[in-house]
Amino acid sequence: MGRKFFVGGNWKCNGTAEEVKKIVKTLNDAKVPSQDVVEVVVSPPFVFLPLVKSSLRSDFYVSAQNCWVKKGGAYTGEVSAEMLVNLEVPWVILGHSERRALLGESNEFVGDKVAYALAQGLKVIACVGETLEQREAGSTMDVVAAQTKAIADRISDWKNVVVAYEPVWAIGTGKVATPAQAQEVHDGLRKWLQKNVSADVAESTRIIYGGSVNGGNCKELAGQTDVDGFLVGGASLKPEFVDIISAAT
Ligand code: G3P
Repeated sequence: MGRKFFVGGNWKCNGTAEEVKKIVKTLNDAKVPSQDVVEVVVSPPFVFLPLVKSSLRSDFYVSAQNCWVKKGGAYTGEVSAEMLVNLEVPWVILGHSERRALLGESNEFVGDKVAYALAQGLKVIACVGETLEQREAGSTMDVVAAQTKAIADRISDWKNVVVAYEPVWAIGTGKVATPAQAQEVHDGLRKWLQKNVSADVAESTRIIYGGSVNGGNCKELAGQTDVDGFLVGGASLKPEFVDIISAAT
């Protein structure tokens, strides 16, 4: 299969400089599998990116949690992809459900962001996921397929894309998807890529799971055929993030 395990830590809108320094120290002191086995990317708030990047161990990488959809300019409050490249931040999370819900980011807008970020040389963690209502209505695969299509319609090179399946109903709730639920959607996404993009892209693209991952549930989830890693929120701020990294198989 050959997909390197990927563990992302999405710190969201959390932290003070002192707290960030403590998290970085915990990560720097951690004994984890080599970077040949697992790729670790941590995503602090923008304001802490230089601090984390300058102090984090060299075998871990940093990510932004978002970036603007086009070249920078008169877009108050935004951070451009060019700025991240200038800071030598290699990764960016795009399409997180919290931004889709709270800021109205549409599938098309997210697709445009992914295309622009890739074109500037960034690597992208592209988030998809359904709400509880959508799952209960049986439309999970329709929803995540539409979100993925909006990206696929705008890009041709997937080598720098990691897809993060994050069921909205599992984010921050403690209600983690069962391994079977996660595997079912990951398998569905991989089949969608095979049918609509290519067999090579389907085989090589990492599809990671996010939504209440912790040190206790990560091993069983990691054992699923099409779960290639995690995007971790709350637990990435705690020492148990090291356990999750070590779940790499
Ligand atoms: O991006 C990852 C995040 O949405 C998952 O959050 O706190 O449920 O691990 P959490």
